[in-house]
Amino acid sequence: MNVIRFADLVAQGRVAGQRVFIRADLNVPQDDSGRITEDTRIRASIPAIRMALDAGAAVMVTSHLGRPKEGEFKPEDSLAPVAQRLGELLGREVPLVANWVDGVDVQPGQVVLLENCRVNKGEKKNDEALARKMAALCDIFVHDAFGTAHRAEASTYGIAQFAKVACAGPLLAAEIDAITKAIAQPKRPLVAIVAGSKVSTKLTILQSLANNVDGLVVGGGIANTFMLAEGLPIGKSLAEPDLVGEAKAVIAAMKARGAEVPIPVDVVVAKAFKADAPATVKAAADVAADDMILDIGPKTAQMLADKLKAAGTIVWNGPVGVFEFDAFAKGTETVARAIADSDAFSIAGGGDTLAAIAKYGIEKDIGYITTGGGAFLEVLEGKTLPAFEILARRAAG
Ligand code: 3PG
Repeated sequence: MNVIRFADLVAQGRVAGQRVFIRADLNVPQDDSGRITEDTRIRASIPAIRMALDAGAAVMVTSHLGRPKEGEFKPEDSLAPVAQRLGELLGREVPLVANWVDGVDVQPGQVVLLENCRVNKGEKKNDEALARKMAALCDIFVHDAFGTAHRAEASTYGIAQFAKVACAGPLLAAEIDAITKAIAQPKRPLVAIVAGSKVSTKLTILQSLANNVDGLVVGGGIANTFMLAEGLPIGKSLAEPDLVGEAKAVIAAMKARGAEVPIPVDVVVAKAFKADAPATVKAAADVAADDMILDIGPKTAQMLADKLKAAGTIVWNGPVGVFEFDAFAKGTETVARAIADSDAFSIAGGGDTLAAIAKYGIEKDIGYITTGGGAFLEVLEGKTLPAFEILARRAAG
């Protein structure tokens, strides 16, 4: 994908003294008192801000936080906690500016945080007048918000249309590079793991991947529906029997390409969904009517581990069992460690997947951990994200 990269503009000496507007994704989780509970996205946004400051730019940063009602600013919508955390990470004060659309006072070498951009009227609908005003604030627009790259809003899309220069920040560029390496030009075999409770929420992803990947590992409730499609008993496990036809179609599409959907040969079952429920390993064919499948069994885990170790590229979205309960975590742990040990380039994303990566301490062994939630899922669906489309168009002149 050909986009202008902010790092290249810096290297070309085109940033000093310029007004730089960075759209970051600082949409972080907070507790009831507003305290930030997880700051990965803030830390991931630091390189772009430092790059702009070091280059001598006047730097404006903004983000959305939550989904506030436009035109109605409430204290809980404020980026104030984010400004404080940014300040700690940058080692300097980061002033928070409200009502900024008509003008921002910031000098070269300074950085300001512009209050929650979703409070501005017209933001969600990508209002042209609002986007033009934002574009007029800067000489260079830097899109660095991969988490929001699937949205076409005034501060993510319209501003990129109208700013003098529109480019990808280092975080967005890294995400583009990782996605290209994993999905557009993967080293084969390409193995994808798509797990979750429901086929329905990930059906378009499964259908899209069925046309591209060499191995499609399904897990969780999704795997149960695929087991049903293969005529296996699943007892009272979570599944969507009405989507068995779709699961069969995915299996058939994969087979027709000489690719495969490995179906569990053994599983770990319990009589109740509880952390302390006794766990029993069974052959997949022996699941009883009152059993709930809560994990893949050791033979299946080993079979998947062998495939993952032999892969050229791995895309991972979703744990294969109820890994929050130790008795049902072995499948996910085996898969996680196999990905970590594999020479394959791996890309991982999604809240539960990140929690599993953290639980097994394998962050450093994953090729790339994406900051995108919904954006990553849309990439897996094969969609072209609005951010990529507009930045590529601007790069083409
Ligand atoms: C996210 O948390 O996935 C992004 O920040 C996008 O947020 P949104 O779904 O409210 O647009």
